[in-house]
Amino acid sequence: MLYAAVMRTFIAIELPDLIKKQLGDITRQLCRYRITAGWVKPDNLHLTLKFLGETDDTLLSRLAEQIDHLAKQQTAFRADLDGFGFFPSSKRPRILYAAIKDPLPFKQLAQHLDRILEPLGFTPEQHFHPHITLARIKSHQNLPALQFLLEDIALQNSFSVNAVSLFSSTLHAEGVRYAVLQRGLLQ
Ligand code: 2AM
Repeated sequence: MLYAAVMRTFIAIELPDLIKKQLGDITRQLCRYRITAGWVKPDNLHLTLKFLGETDDTLLSRLAEQIDHLAKQQTAFRADLDGFGFFPSSKRPRILYAAIKDPLPFKQLAQHLDRILEPLGFTPEQHFHPHITLARIKSHQNLPALQFLLEDIALQNSFSVNAVSLFSSTLHAEGVRYAVLQRGLLQ
């Protein structure tokens, strides 16, 4: 019997090195305050448009085609970072993220992806909220300290969104490793 291989995949916006460095400098600063959290390594920072989960590898070429097709219909745009936020709420946060000033172009991209990927069996997202995950918070012990520190950090920068990328995500001894499988360049 033949078994199809599966891999964990997602579609995301890659961030320029300068933005990853700026966010990495911030998280390195925050790390020092012993907040119990899984901090995302600067190289791994991204903005997720759609989490696909365990994906049969026979689907990968179709996903790549769909991403190229979408990219040909979308124009590149600029996005602004706008401070920090917590999911699901600042009272009981599980995720610390860098916020985006104007979510609309990302929402439109995510909706476009939902439309073209539903026929491939991927369920549309009900509550897409563009963000860049910085940390997964594990304890609320030092939360007031974290919130206090964040108030003093001005996060305002902008970056170009030039591509939509299909990523694989694999677990290794040193942590999660992401790789770009396909990059669809926006017009
Ligand atoms: P996020 O950090 O932007 O929220 C790769 O694993 C990415 O897919 C993660 O960085 C996360 O994006 C998103 N992701 C992972 N597991 C997920 C899940 N179960 N549901 C939705 N998104 C998920």
